[in-house]
Amino acid sequence: MGLNIENRRYIGNKSKLLKFIDDTIRKEKIEFNTFGDVFSGTGVVAEYFLNKGKDTYINDLLFSNYVIYKALLSNDKFEEEKIKKIIDKYNEINSENLEENYFSNNFSGNYYHNYDAKKIGYVREDIENKYKNQELNEREYYILISALLYSMDKISNTVGHYESFLNKEPEYKNLKISYMNIKRYNAKSYIYNEDANNLVKKIKVDVMYIDPPYNARQYANFYHLLENVAQWKKPKVYNKAKKMERKNIMSEYCKANAKAVFEDLIKNINAKYIIVSYNNTYKAKSTSSINSITYEDMINILEKKGKLKIYETDYKYFNSGKTNLDKHKERLFICKTGE
Ligand SMILES: C[S@@+](CC[C@H](N)C(=O)[O-])C[C@H]1O[C@@H](n2cnc3c(N)ncnc32)[C@H](O)[C@@H]1O
Repeated sequence: MGLNIENRRYIGNKSKLLKFIDDTIRKEKIEFNTFGDVFSGTGVVAEYFLNKGKDTYINDLLFSNYVIYKALLSNDKFEEEKIKKIIDKYNEINSENLEENYFSNNFSGNYYHNYDAKKIGYVREDIENKYKNQELNEREYYILISALLYSMDKISNTVGHYESFLNKEPEYKNLKISYMNIKRYNAKSYIYNEDANNLVKKIKVDVMYIDPPYNARQYANFYHLLENVAQWKKPKVYNKAKKMERKNIMSEYCKANAKAVFEDLIKNINAKYIIVSYNNTYKAKSTSSINSITYEDMINILEKKGKLKIYETDYKYFNSGKTNLDKHKERLFICKTGE
């Protein structure tokens, strides 16, 4: 028994909205063979349609997410038994006896107990060496990194993201690396790690699903630690939260010019239908949760592109305890472009 793509904590993930998205597509009688999800996050929406036989474009600005897509959603070959043997070996390691390393030097006593931190650093370095020595193919390399990312995330001393760690000493959790359940897909997946605004200029799909961040809270800040482990460039980390330099993974969608960036995105999409996820966090009390693009902006921008319909559903979602949303609504804007 292993982990599935949805078995991680990720802010704004649409696991609970898949049925709503699918039902809406059915109601609209949208027929399609190709699907684009250019702000894929966990990848659960892309996975859902890939699994239904649609050729799917998958993308995110974060490399840690790309690694997961390359591991779980790729069409490339890998040897399952080889991966299992390597993971079993990792799980026999006695962490106490390991030497200090980049990860333990930076993330002990904050996000992890020293023994778990030593193991995370050791395992990540070992995966890198195995890949360099050609003991792993590219897919196997990404599968092992993903297994580490999912497993380490489960035992971190946090509420589920890495903006900060909990105000208590991390316990020794004796990290075990879990296997990942990997499905075989008949449809093709195309996997990218770039700015969605660039990518949409290069691809053409029947349905393009759009789910960007709509507030000032940067995913690069939430998930810097997973990004650090995925990239494994061993950068210097700063301040209490131990974040690495993240300039090139900061999203324009979380900045003041979000509306113009969104407008540019929609203008450049080449698809018969554009489906946009949107929620009404604009009533939130914390200023960083206020939507950068208003409901009226959305309507104006999408109406320029095609014929618009709006669907909505009630939904309970992450609010970090500060935000009190009584009537949280998730919306889907369906724009038929006529292209
Ligand atoms: C609301 S989340 C998507 C959640 C996803 N639908 C799911 O179900 O997990 C928004 C995602 O957009 C990514 N992102 C932000 N700006 C981006 C950009 N300019 N290009 C591509 N991805 C971006 C973030 O890293 C984040 O993963």
